[in-house]
Amino acid sequence: MLKPNKLANNNFLSSVDLSTDEVLHVLDLANNFKNKKININLNNKVLGLIFDKSSTRTRVSFQVAMTRLGGTTIDLNPTTSQIGRGEPIKDTARVLSRYCDVIAIRTFDHSDLEEYAKWSTKPVINALTDLEHPCQVLADFLTIREEFLDFKDVTLTFIGDGNNVANSLILCGALLGVKVRIACPKGYEPNPLVIKKAYEIYKNKDLLKITNNPIAAVHGANVLYTDVWSSMGEENQKEEKDKDFLGFTIDSDLLEKANKDAIILHCLPAYRNKEITEAAMESQKSRIFQQAENRMHAQQALLSCLLA
Ligand code: CP
Ligand code: NVA
Repeated sequence: MLKPNKLANNNFLSSVDLSTDEVLHVLDLANNFKNKKININLNNKVLGLIFDKSSTRTRVSFQVAMTRLGGTTIDLNPTTSQIGRGEPIKDTARVLSRYCDVIAIRTFDHSDLEEYAKWSTKPVINALTDLEHPCQVLADFLTIREEFLDFKDVTLTFIGDGNNVANSLILCGALLGVKVRIACPKGYEPNPLVIKKAYEIYKNKDLLKITNNPIAAVHGANVLYTDVWSSMGEENQKEEKDKDFLGFTIDSDLLEKANKDAIILHCLPAYRNKEITEAAMESQKSRIFQQAENRMHAQQALLSCLLA
């Protein structure tokens, strides 16, 4: 039976907190959890959840993952705890790490997550920040591998806003040697430090391309991925972004230009007929709900490694 290996890093704040071998190990474990080939008992260990932004999938998949591992979770509501009152992160982190065995945090500024990690004596997991969503992309690459088996054969085209999900796809894609194409309107390119880091990891510089042309980006793609145009916290930019992103919808026209075997992914929640059409979401090519399920299996694997 495959056993969870201890990870070199105590925290999972960024996709690159894992090495290539560690990502592959987490994906193998996730697959074993999914196929019920592994049974881990965390003996009532506690995962603390802090969500400064809304969540369905991340919250529930962490809760179910922890329950399946024989652990438990505490969902700290920032508005009814002292977090919302503005208690310093360094105090909250030191207190919570005396109660909990691991803490997952969804917040705005990535630097706040890093501040939690600095003061926590227990592992901290990024449950989404404005910069990255590394747990999401573990599930994404699990879904991709279920379809294509060898990452070297994959061209992943992300069409949309170059923020958290795109940044983590780029970094994890670089670790796995996946060919990644990002198509976004001018001014919405991924974080330059993320791009720089990815080029350092990739041995072949042609593997990552950023473009403002979605049609060019889907050429040769076998994974088409999109995310909302206006992320959480950007609600007041909706009108402007809807205009800026015209032409960046995953629809039948764009799908036709991709490879015949292309699958469609979306991290969800989706705005139908904005970033993706209803027909594309519901098509035979969609693996979106398999991808959502895989959040739970990937996080079971991650938690069992962090707590090994
Ligand atoms: N994909 C994702 O993180 O979904 P939630 O916002 O529902 O957690
Ligand atoms: N980019 C989106 C991802 C949601 C899972 C957001 O930050 O709202």
